[in-house]
Amino acid sequence: MENIIEKIINLAIQAPSGENCQPWRFEIGNNEIDIYNVPERDQSLYNTNQAGSYVAHGALVENMIISAKTLSYSASITLFPKSSEPDLVASITLRQSAPQEDSLLDSIAKRTTNRKPYMKTQLPTEQLERLAATSSQVDGAKAEFVTDPDKIKALAEACSVNEIVMFSNNTLHNFFFNHINWTQEEETKKRFGFYVKTLELPPPAQLGMKMFKNWPLMNLLNKFGFAKLIAKGNAKIYAACSAMGAIAVPDNDKNNLIAAGRSFQRLWLQATQMGLSIQPLTGVLFLMKAITNGRASKFSDKQIELIKQAYKQICEIFYFPDKKIALLFRIGRGDNPSAHSLKLPAKITKKI
Ligand SMILES: Cc1cc2nc3c(=O)[nH]c(=O)nc-3n(C[C@H](O)[C@H](O)[C@H](O)COP(=O)(O)O)c2cc1C
Repeated sequence: MENIIEKIINLAIQAPSGENCQPWRFEIGNNEIDIYNVPERDQSLYNTNQAGSYVAHGALVENMIISAKTLSYSASITLFPKSSEPDLVASITLRQSAPQEDSLLDSIAKRTTNRKPYMKTQLPTEQLERLAATSSQVDGAKAEFVTDPDKIKALAEACSVNEIVMFSNNTLHNFFFNHINWTQEEETKKRFGFYVKTLELPPPAQLGMKMFKNWPLMNLLNKFGFAKLIAKGNAKIYAACSAMGAIAVPDNDKNNLIAAGRSFQRLWLQATQMGLSIQPLTGVLFLMKAITNGRASKFSDKQIELIKQAYKQICEIFYFPDKKIALLFRIGRGDNPSAHSLKLPAKITKKI
């Protein structure tokens, strides 16, 4: 059984996480896996109240359910089972069952974030419907797509407000640059953060990137509109896609954020199977959470206004009358990414 549990965990940890922070550890028993959040892994302004980490845990849990099923186990999940242990995100009990195939299994290890521009061609309606149906199998979660080129452009511009704020805010700027692994060697050693090659920077940015780590220089360049220039370039890349997608849930409490992560992972695995690429574009959504959850003092008035405007724009284009948008992403057919992020070995201890 221990072998099976390790197999399940090792597949599960291929899940996406903000800045590849992989905020998890595991305690295992005979037929149980307790999944713990590790808040120290991400204390950033993008992870207010651990919202981003809960989404990542959702993806991890979904990977577990899929892989357990194909190994002849059904996984029953209890989210946040002990109020005395807030970091215990889920207890999973495995029970032997008839072996079941799941076509999403093979995509777990293949799924990756692709930050290259994609083709702008429309995707067949059946493909979008299949993606939405796969993700809606998680209770309460709903996926929607926007395919109108003007709306895609408007969403791309709204999402790129993240870069205007990130490169003009000392805390966010430092956070981003401190999480870059500049060489393959560094990436292999650390196995978390952004491997610079996965950022798919255009050639001029590749040259300047190390210099931009210097905040006084960045601050000076911003006086000449530099952050806006970066955002403009990124907006073009974000608009290079077939559709923008959103995952919405009834509200943004921790249970629903996990549901959003599960739903998104299903959609991403299905997209991978179809040969489609995905890039989450969540900066504005998570910065909005920072502002509305007591961290507004970390931003200038101008930055707050920009984030609020961009958020409003996103909510107007993706209209969910009775749900809240938890995640935003672009989807399309693109060349293979230049590199993949590596994962840390799973931290597993035995329950006493
Ligand atoms: C909650 C969440 C938010 C994310 N937001 C972004 C984002 O705004 N932009 C982006 O390029 N990637 C985003 N990502 C992707 C992560 O950076 C990526 O999963 C991580 O670096 C690991 O790489 P992988 O997906 O290739 O395994 C997000 C992932 C998660 C789970």
